[in-house]
Amino acid sequence: MTSSQTELAAGALKVDFDGQVATITLARPERRNAMTPAIWHGLAAVGAGLPDEVRVVVVRGEGPSFCAGIDLNLLAGTSDETVARAQDPDFEQQVAGYQAGYLWLADPRIVSIAAVHGHAIGAGFQLALACDLRILAEDAKFCMKEPALGLVLDLTGTKPLVDIVGLPRAIELCLTARTVTAAEALLLRLAELVVPRAELDAAVDDLVAALLATDAAAARATKALLRQAQGHTREQQAAAERRAQATLLRSRLPG
Ligand code: ACO
Repeated sequence: MTSSQTELAAGALKVDFDGQVATITLARPERRNAMTPAIWHGLAAVGAGLPDEVRVVVVRGEGPSFCAGIDLNLLAGTSDETVARAQDPDFEQQVAGYQAGYLWLADPRIVSIAAVHGHAIGAGFQLALACDLRILAEDAKFCMKEPALGLVLDLTGTKPLVDIVGLPRAIELCLTARTVTAAEALLLRLAELVVPRAELDAAVDDLVAALLATDAAAARATKALLRQAQGHTREQQAAAERRAQATLLRSRLPG
């Protein structure tokens, strides 16, 4: 087993690789882990360079908050960094580059877990939504702030939000920009588990161990099947199951 740490985005992102587990830590606690394009590109780089052996990716935040969303200095024009501007002809391309930092977290080769404590706002809430599973500390708070700031969600959050909470609740949460407590998040299925703050790391470790205890190839094929189930009829999905099983079992045949 290999163990190593990489820093990206001038240290605002730390990535620890420990065998089959990668842990991504948002590491700008003095700004409540507020996000910038460098961080989104850093996340995309982690996804693009993920070693094949990695099966579980944990995303967490350092300090009092998981993530306070976009760095508001970018919107105010008071940051050293710039963010895509309306007048940029390649605006959508730039945003696609930011979204790449989120999309890979749904890849069937891995299971991604957001370990959320404190605030997860806007881009931070979307980051938690980009993960397959969410384990929350009791002090966790979600807020989709974008519409209140005159923006839409554009960091891949709309689809998982609607898939998880349903359209009416997604409309209500986004268009009021209200805060969802951990207790409500559990009711809305935005959290798989809520634990006391002091037990968050241990709860994540337990989940990681349970996920790693299953067969790697079967786990990957099963996640791929589950992810496509919603868009399929029962018959299409039954056919997909047959195909996946044949592929999986044949991959183990000798020779
Ligand atoms: N961008 C830039 N700086 C931030 C951000 C942010 N999103 N969030 C917090 N900070 C800074 C604060 O300005 C403060 O800096 P200072 O120490 O120089 O004064 C420092 O981080 C600590 O922030 P506090 O507000 O003092 O921390 P607290 O723990 O009391 O509150 C909270 C945390 C709730 C996250 C609060 O900071 C907040 O509401 N931040 C803004 C959230 C926001 O609107 N994000 C944009 C969402 S929309 C999107 O992401 C697209």
